[in-house]
Amino acid sequence: MDTSATARPVALLEREHEVEQIRAALRGAGRGRGGALIIEAAPGIGKSRLLGESRQLAGAMGLRVLDARSTALEQGFPFGVVRQLFERVLLEAESGDRERWLAGAGGLAMEVLTGMPAAGPGPGPSGGDFGYAWLHGLYWFASNLAVDAPLALVVDDLQWCDAPSARALAYIARRLDGQPLVLVIATRPLDPALMPEAAALVADALSEVVRPAPLTPAAVRELIADRLLADTDHRFVRACIEVTGGNPFLLGELLDEAAARGLEPTSSGAAEVASIVPRGVTNAVLLRLARLEPTAAVLARALSVLDDGAHVGDATQLARLARAETETAMAALVSAGVVEAGETVRFTHPILRTAVYGDLSPAERERLHHSAAAILRERGAPRGQVAAHVMQTEPASDPNAVALLRQVAHDALALGDADRAAALLSRALDEPPADGDRPAILLELGQALAHAGAPQAIAPLSEIAERGEDPVAVAAAAIDLSSLLFFTPAAPLRERRSCAAPGSGFRPGSPLGGSSRSRCWASAPLRRRRGGRRRRRSPPCETRAARHATCCRRRRLPRSPWRRC
Ligand SMILES: Nc1ncnc2c1ncn2[C@@H]1O[C@H](COP(=O)(O)OP(=O)(O)OP(=O)(O)O)[C@@H](O)[C@H]1O
Ligand SMILES: [Mg+2]
Repeated sequence: MDTSATARPVALLEREHEVEQIRAALRGAGRGRGGALIIEAAPGIGKSRLLGESRQLAGAMGLRVLDARSTALEQGFPFGVVRQLFERVLLEAESGDRERWLAGAGGLAMEVLTGMPAAGPGPGPSGGDFGYAWLHGLYWFASNLAVDAPLALVVDDLQWCDAPSARALAYIARRLDGQPLVLVIATRPLDPALMPEAAALVADALSEVVRPAPLTPAAVRELIADRLLADTDHRFVRACIEVTGGNPFLLGELLDEAAARGLEPTSSGAAEVASIVPRGVTNAVLLRLARLEPTAAVLARALSVLDDGAHVGDATQLARLARAETETAMAALVSAGVVEAGETVRFTHPILRTAVYGDLSPAERERLHHSAAAILRERGAPRGQVAAHVMQTEPASDPNAVALLRQVAHDALALGDADRAAALLSRALDEPPADGDRPAILLELGQALAHAGAPQAIAPLSEIAERGEDPVAVAAAAIDLSSLLFFTPAAPLRERRSCAAPGSGFRPGSPLGGSSRSRCWASAPLRRRRGGRRRRRSPPCETRAARHATCCRRRRLPRSPWRRC
């Protein structure tokens, strides 16, 4: 039996209907009737393969194709996927093209795509609602690009897409009617609680969803004949379907293993099929690695921690290999179909990475993420990448880790990803920080959560408002708390009272404790909710706001987009 058969690409089976839907969506974009096509299915069913078909078809139909692929580790990079889509075409464009694409509202995308503020006069993101302006800018940028040639934006693995990019894709998807622009997106089934933006995109009535099914016995038989190069007994086909459920990826892994063992697709071979993968595909992948030289497995483990897009140099250091050893190990991994090497390295399939990563012991995982953070930091990699590894390590009271997580949280917040910022700050608190830094981080966490609209913001903000030592922080927390309680109808009344009641959050004796200003702000929402009755001594609204603004200026309170001052 020829094991090299596994390296040959297999014909696309039983996807005529899906390919026709893709073709129709691309044709629609070519005629100025854009839309969004979502391919949703379980891991290994063949979504990426269909995206490959989409790219080829789109190219053949004269569409410009821009693509991106999310990865689990990069989920924390705000607008990472959007940048993958547009950054290269923008950087490589002639200056005339670039100017056209960034003309008008398209210029609002500049900050997201290049990190540089939008040029020229007019309201830019820094002057208004950051998130909306950026989404609007990205839509117009894509729309301007599509004026040159119909455009296909192809995104794989939406289930790992960073939230701001998912929001941008959903924004674009809702405005495609009449545009020569099509989105083709692949995703595993999504949990709306974990990925609300991406789930909203899939659920949108304007999105067309394609759900490829597992392969039927006829196609499985064809795959077996192709890989094992022999006549196939129907019992062998049935055994393969029982083990894999007709999932093309699992079938491929199973048949690779069968070929490596010299198994014939006969009725006696059928009895052995179930024992090949007693613990599922993980075994098949790990077995495949075990057959290679030991350095290949070591390198694969390091690569699984670095995730897709790893630099060979980083992997070499992390695996503690010499350069020559890495070269040999990499060649073995590539020829075994485990990784694809290019400028950077990626696993040929996410399930492979998950299988290798899942096989690491907790201690090994901890050690590797710890070392990966140090290696990336040393090389001057973007701090978001370093933080992604720190997030996977156990807390260790490391002040550098705390500082890094705070910086990356600020970056995330500046890009409108408040959820990510809150996760980073929460981890920074777990580290834990030095006692002196804790209140500031707690306040930042509360503000990030408030920005994300999460009621969990109440606890950290209340703690600062009630027990903070720094009067500026106490005031900032009280004001945010007040706004939050006003806009969060579900917040329990007890929490509102704890903020509003004079003497609870605003201690008499503290510099702001007795000030009518902070009490006025904290209690105003309550008064309004109780039917708008105002005490006689309350100043009119405008006066209160003006006083508040003056006070903020005088005390240099931090500005925040959701605070009225
Ligand atoms: N219809 C098909 N006919 C033959 N082979 C297929 C088919 N669909 C997928 N395959 C093969 O199965 C393997 C897995 O496919 P693919 O990577 O597209 O899965 P996926 O759905 O994207 O999985 P994941 O969710 O893990 O990314 C690939 O080797 C692919 O070539
Ligand atoms: Mg895929």
